[in-house]
Amino acid sequence: MPIHTRIRTEPDARPVGRVALDNGAELVAVPVRPGPEVHGADLGVAPPLDPADLLAFHDAKGEPGEVVACPLRLGDGTGELLLYGVGDGSPGALRRAGAALARRAKGRDGLVVLAPEGDAAAFAEGALLGSYEFWIGEAPRRRSVGTITVLGADRAAVERGTVIAEAAALARDLANTPSVDKSPAWLADRAAELAERSGLGVRIRDEGALREEGFGGLIAVGAGSVRPPRLIELTYEPEGGADRHLVLVGKGITFDSGGLSLKPNDNMKTMKTDMAAGGVVMAVLAALPALGVRARVTGLVAAAENMPSGSAMRPSDVITHYGGRTSEVLNTDAEGRLVLADALAYADAVLEPDAVVDVATLTGAAKVALGLRHAALFATDDALAEGLTGAGTAAGEPVWRMPLVDDYRVAIESEVADVANIERRGFGGGAIMAALFLREFAGKRPWAHLDVAGPGRATADDAEITKGATGYGARLLLNWLIAQN
Ligand code: BES
Ligand code: MN
Ligand code: ZN
Repeated sequence: MPIHTRIRTEPDARPVGRVALDNGAELVAVPVRPGPEVHGADLGVAPPLDPADLLAFHDAKGEPGEVVACPLRLGDGTGELLLYGVGDGSPGALRRAGAALARRAKGRDGLVVLAPEGDAAAFAEGALLGSYEFWIGEAPRRRSVGTITVLGADRAAVERGTVIAEAAALARDLANTPSVDKSPAWLADRAAELAERSGLGVRIRDEGALREEGFGGLIAVGAGSVRPPRLIELTYEPEGGADRHLVLVGKGITFDSGGLSLKPNDNMKTMKTDMAAGGVVMAVLAALPALGVRARVTGLVAAAENMPSGSAMRPSDVITHYGGRTSEVLNTDAEGRLVLADALAYADAVLEPDAVVDVATLTGAAKVALGLRHAALFATDDALAEGLTGAGTAAGEPVWRMPLVDDYRVAIESEVADVANIERRGFGGGAIMAALFLREFAGKRPWAHLDVAGPGRATADDAEITKGATGYGARLLLNWLIAQN
């Protein structure tokens, strides 16, 4: 259920109150900056109270997220005036301000907002993502606000913010979908639909093709499920050709029970979102045409369901991955790296990319290390790491770079295969160990890995983030790809 709220722009030629009357909107909103002076917007209708008194009464400071309301007569009807704080006007503050305003307007048909100064894309993004809702069955009683009309904002910026917010919302929808409905084949069908709609190339490898071409990691991880694995390949070719080819790889485990190394129920119950990063890759690819990105981009989603059964892979099995490198399975719950290994090896051997970035809800250890907001970034190339870090900061999806510690490589040595899928020396550093495993398959090209196990899910609404799947990575990657122009 992508975002119900629509956002539109109008020049600020007319007072907000008049626009609200014409649009049948119940709410009007004007920005407030911190400081002694209250923004003296021309409402075009008489507020019953002096806005400065109202702010003082509520002890409001103009901080982002603050919304102070008072009733307003709009024509013959009743409305509300909302004074919304914009803080320092930074993109992060405007995302928070937009989200707070949209949440305050829940259940209403229309809101007319005088745009804040600053990045209108961030404001629109916050308003739309704060309005995101997911449910199955009857629609909630109070839907998010119908239409937000923004006065005096740069239209192109609002449109860019809308495309980016819709990509993040699509990624949330895919990850929030229960696994009973979400098999690898289902995910592949969604990818094919997106490709059709956005004009992308698409190739789906089913289990037969995967076995024939040697994608042993996908076959092994998918072996326990009655719902076989898929490799999704989406391609975006900009008009007029491209100088750079970038490959995005996403973990697409549609449910992670742990396999025979079964998870306890508490850890398992959130594992429908173990394909969150794969959903992000799909949503990012689908948004590229609308954003006019100039690089050629291939998206790979390694999709499988990790289940225990009589046909499941076993601890001690040895897998031959795409291209011939082998791994020893010592824990079937370290499955993400096994499917990503195939996709990384394939990208390196066949796609000839200038850089590869994989995204994965890979380790509980990354969540322990960095918490629920920062992704762990690993990279073999400093320029690539800097580009992704900057994009994350700009997008409101921060990353923290972690080391690929060469001295730890001995911990994933295996006697029977090229590498073991978990560390065997008691070194700890689970997120690093997983990254070291992946590096074995990434080849010599610039490669980066984002472990999004922490920020991929949220436990509560906060600013533009909504409880459940967050779509983390969609905004970061789109900002990074836009910056390639
Ligand atoms: N999908 C999980 C990682 C995860 C944990 C994501 C919590 C989001 C929240 C992954 O497949 C996994 O099970 N990893 C194991 C690896 C271990 C067996 C080496 C883990 O982190 O416990
Ligand atoms: Mn697992
Ligand atoms: Zn997993």
